[in-house]
Amino acid sequence: MNKVKIAVLVSGGGTNLQAIIDYAKEGHIPHGELALVLSDKPGAYALTRAAMNDIPTAVVSKKDCASQAEFEEKMIAELEAHGIEMIVLAGFLCILTENFVKRYPERIINVHPSLIPAFCGKGYYGLKVHKAALDYGVKVTGATVHFVNEVPDGGKIILQKSVMIRKDETPESLQAHVMKNAEWIILPRAVEMVAKKIRKGGELEE
Ligand code: GAR
Repeated sequence: MNKVKIAVLVSGGGTNLQAIIDYAKEGHIPHGELALVLSDKPGAYALTRAAMNDIPTAVVSKKDCASQAEFEEKMIAELEAHGIEMIVLAGFLCILTENFVKRYPERIINVHPSLIPAFCGKGYYGLKVHKAALDYGVKVTGATVHFVNEVPDGGKIILQKSVMIRKDETPESLQAHVMKNAEWIILPRAVEMVAKKIRKGGELEE
């Protein structure tokens, strides 16, 4: 069986990328292979993590592009050059337009650090999500992995995991808590679920 070639798109530290790398190394992603890590930020530590694991890397910097269309065309050129069939947004903080996402229907997944539909959509990313959850006073939050369509954080949900909010939580402590106890667990699992569905068809199954 040809494994599904997967690109992971990143903007920052890449702890979710690391969780996928570790899960794959343990043999839990038999239907996929990490074929590219693409960053919009040249200095992203996620690129170092990829290089340390012999995964090809590419950088497409938005500020070097005249328009969103040019940015997306350059990314598509990289993805096609590497034969990519599935895309994982793992802390990739740029919005993708309909023009990009419609090329990969049910082939792009994203991890979001809340229980969608709470604290999601335009403007909700990174620490802002956790600050909003604490400001609202919710007692439970978590993470969601979902398919990406043209609506920010609006595609079909694949997996969710909840996390209890502790006393004296700060946005930073909550972010760390949600990553460790939800994101790093459900994202790698969802990667295998979707890769398997791409190769074998049928329903998404854990
Ligand atoms: C993660 O918490 C991820 O859920 C979030 O950015 C962080 C990236 O961390 N993504 C979003 O907020 C998307 N809306 P990482 O680079 O260490 O994986």
